[in-house]
Amino acid sequence: MPSPAQTEAVRPHPVQYSRQGRVGVIAVDYPPVNAIGHGVRSGLVEALESGLADDGADALLIVCAGRSFMAGADIREFGKPSAPPTLPEVVARLDDATKPVIAAIHGTALGGGLEVALACHVRVALKSAKLGLPEVKLGLLPGAGGTQRLPRLIGAARALDMILSGDPVGAEEALALGLVDAVEDGTSPLEAGLRAAERLLADGRLPQPVSARADRLTGTDPALFTAKRAELAKRQPHLFSPHRIVDAVEAAVTLPFADGAARERELFLACMDSPQRAGLIHAFFAEREVAKVPGLPADTATRDVRKVGVVGAGTMGGGIAMCFANAGIPVVLLDSAREGLDRGIAAIRANYEATARKGRLTAEQAEERMASIHPTLSYADLADSDLVVEAAFESMEVKRAIFRTLDETCKPGAILATNTSTLDVDAIAAATGRPQDVLGMHFFSPANVMRLLEVVRGARTSDTVLATAMGLARRIGKVGVAVGVCHGFVGNRILHQRGRESMALVEEGASPEQVDRVLTGFGFPLGHFAMTDLAGIDVGWRIREERRKAGDPEAEAPDWLDTLAERGRHGQKTAAGVYRYEPGSRTPIPDPEVAAAIGEDRRRRGITPRPVTDEEIRERCLYAMVNEAAKILEEGIAARPVDIDAIWLHGYGFPSWRGGLLFWANREGLGRIAETVQRYHRDIGGPQWRPSALLLQCAATGRPIGC
Ligand code: 3HC
Repeated sequence: MPSPAQTEAVRPHPVQYSRQGRVGVIAVDYPPVNAIGHGVRSGLVEALESGLADDGADALLIVCAGRSFMAGADIREFGKPSAPPTLPEVVARLDDATKPVIAAIHGTALGGGLEVALACHVRVALKSAKLGLPEVKLGLLPGAGGTQRLPRLIGAARALDMILSGDPVGAEEALALGLVDAVEDGTSPLEAGLRAAERLLADGRLPQPVSARADRLTGTDPALFTAKRAELAKRQPHLFSPHRIVDAVEAAVTLPFADGAARERELFLACMDSPQRAGLIHAFFAEREVAKVPGLPADTATRDVRKVGVVGAGTMGGGIAMCFANAGIPVVLLDSAREGLDRGIAAIRANYEATARKGRLTAEQAEERMASIHPTLSYADLADSDLVVEAAFESMEVKRAIFRTLDETCKPGAILATNTSTLDVDAIAAATGRPQDVLGMHFFSPANVMRLLEVVRGARTSDTVLATAMGLARRIGKVGVAVGVCHGFVGNRILHQRGRESMALVEEGASPEQVDRVLTGFGFPLGHFAMTDLAGIDVGWRIREERRKAGDPEAEAPDWLDTLAERGRHGQKTAAGVYRYEPGSRTPIPDPEVAAAIGEDRRRRGITPRPVTDEEIRERCLYAMVNEAAKILEEGIAARPVDIDAIWLHGYGFPSWRGGLLFWANREGLGRIAETVQRYHRDIGGPQWRPSALLLQCAATGRPIGC
């Protein structure tokens, strides 16, 4: 086996220079996405020098191999010392080139990749290409001239929008904006680039570099920047880099190019040093890492999924059906009653029509998706489905009956999945004669929007079935995370801790709005009680009522939330829940009626309210979650901290700039968390505060959790 050094030696250089006629071709080949690591940077400079020195080359062409143009700087190098040449040095050399340089773009030209293209004299893109500056999503700003050159090409207002959103534009839009000079279809990037070179040479002039152009900047209204700053302060108060992006684009308008570029560098380095950058990059890699399930080889055989059945046409079932229809997979949607089926189909239609009205789908696409969902009342119509997802009422009895029927009806090899959020997947699998083909696919509401999919592996689920579900998650645009069986799996089990502490804190003296303010101050989009209103208070109340009526000894006694539900305050849908809502508004407004209900509840329980500090709320809500997450790791329900991070990022709105629950916990300090958990265990007690052995061990050894 070759040593790493030998392997390095035989690997071809990622950038090669060659000549085709009068055009010097600089070819980048650095799989999988031509990220601009050190080898690519130095290779670009060397190839450029070769091209400039080559008397036979009158124009130079940058083109990339594989599926994409350069997809940006090599993110894996961030946080480490940058070896020269830096990317700004590379683009400065392009800017100074004495021969015209053309970028031929296919796939994605993102971040530093687009910045290289912006420093070329001419850009040509294939019709399918996408171009963007997504640095903001990593807590950064474009740091190789992007904030200075893009406004010079497309104007400051549009550039600001593109850089702040981080979303790419398609080639046709890029052409309309003036970001590219030509779009070609049905050809290779090399051919498109060579044709652009021919046109350029026929013209005989060296086009002005973008840095020297200023016409699109003249007349920029300075109020643009004031307005953007005000908007950001309101909409993204926690984020660091968007505010620096406004500063950098403003510098493009107010300063000469060289000074603007220097200002951009300064701001870029400030973003690079910010903890938000580290958090967002952890979140980027977490999303990709969870796809690689420990112990499940990447080459595990999978089954073809060409047709899917969904059982239950309620809100969840309808949303799940849409996920598959959106990915072009035909769906059979089954409900036991005509009325429920018709209501479910009508809700799906209304959803697609609303999306079409917003311009995110054409009317034709909406119809196509509707046509790929076939409603039925008969299980026989599921016989040829490759996968069936059950999304029926959350009752073991109901689900086991459905699985018995599915086992009798579905073809051999069909995968049977349950969307249960709490029940034992193994007990459901045991209702069938094929437990190896059964697993949980836990979607999050609204299923067609939320990206998380917990893929619950039962004790007997086969590797093939697990690998198929993980692959399918990616195919339908979800972040699939493999988890084991326990009550609430990973996400809801941790959420339960936060919910219980939130309720206890209110009982002791905090108000719901104080708890929510602390949680939104931490960066959650909604506090616990605003989220309860969104989900519907009646849902939890019905479950608790059933348990109480059934005489469940562990059922909690009715509390003030139950009182609200009994009074018909079901949350946002009834314009009153923990908060009240003005007609048509989702803004929660504290309500004296709720404060009175809480007061009554405290009196009934003999509790004298005490002042609760924001710090106590923060600790009790968040540290209880970390302690539970550590127990989940101990039990092997989640394989790695990164799995828990991804679940909370994609299913529960954990602030991505904090990296994820356990990434954040490591930064917060496991010693501090463990000490506080032990203190609450002494003072409050209860199994929830029993410290996790793993947490204590990490705190004692100073190791990050999971390492
Ligand atoms: N650096 C290092 N690795 C990268 C990378 C990058 N810029 N972009 C992608 N990768 C890696 C991924 O981690 C993944 O690795 P793995 O196979 O080991 O898990 C592999 O490439 C394939 O990536 P995806 O699974 O994401 O493949 P997709 O085809 O789904 O998506 C993509 C491709 C659209 C390019 C997507 O990977 C992406 O959005 N990448 C990030 C692009 C980006 O943010 N660029 C800006 C970087 S910051 C910058 O340029 C700073 C500059 O201004 C100075």
